[in-house]
Amino acid sequence: MELLGIAGSLRRDSHNRALIRAAATLLPPGWSLTEWEGLAAIPPYNQDDDGDQAPAPVHELREAVRGADALLISTPEYNHSLPGQLKNALDWASRPLATNPLRAKPVAVVGASVGLFGAVWAQAEARKVLGAIGARVIDEELPVGQAHEAFAAPWSLRDADQEAQLRAILLALAEETPEPERALRAA
Ligand code: FNR
Repeated sequence: MELLGIAGSLRRDSHNRALIRAAATLLPPGWSLTEWEGLAAIPPYNQDDDGDQAPAPVHELREAVRGADALLISTPEYNHSLPGQLKNALDWASRPLATNPLRAKPVAVVGASVGLFGAVWAQAEARKVLGAIGARVIDEELPVGQAHEAFAAPWSLRDADQEAQLRAILLALAEETPEPERALRAA
């Protein structure tokens, strides 16, 4: 099973990237996780530039999503919502609506913030957006608060309960990815 990991932060030492990397160490045998590195290159959404000739970084995003069995998104919280650049990338990925690569794609959202609440509002907003796009969104969250103290490098969650929650979310993603679809994708 191929997971695409998306950290919604552009920051060099992003805690949300650490969370994606922590997830990569918890994968069951036979799974792999590819970290998507293209967020900074995604231009502002412009409907005039969309269609067959969409910008190359957008094309690459769409292909990366299409090629993955499932997505794990780790979002920071900016002003009680998801960061604009992550929303922007999801907007590009959502078109054309009927055949967009996120449609029916299993997606889980987790999040880390330096505040106490662990980006819960951002995660809820991201799930809402993904639902609007037509993704198969896992109805679970992982709030990692006080993120500056939550990780041990390189990279694991210090808290055993949070680690268990992350494992459970990964398994929920697998359950949302039916075997026939996985086999077809691998063929
Ligand atoms: C924040 N931060 C923040 N944290 C939070 O818990 N709730 C919030 O609403 C906000 N709002 C917010 C706005 C902006 C513009 C910034 C730059 C930051 C703090 C945020 O949790 C912290 O910067 C995280 O470290 C961001 O995640 P990464 O970059 O470490 O992945």
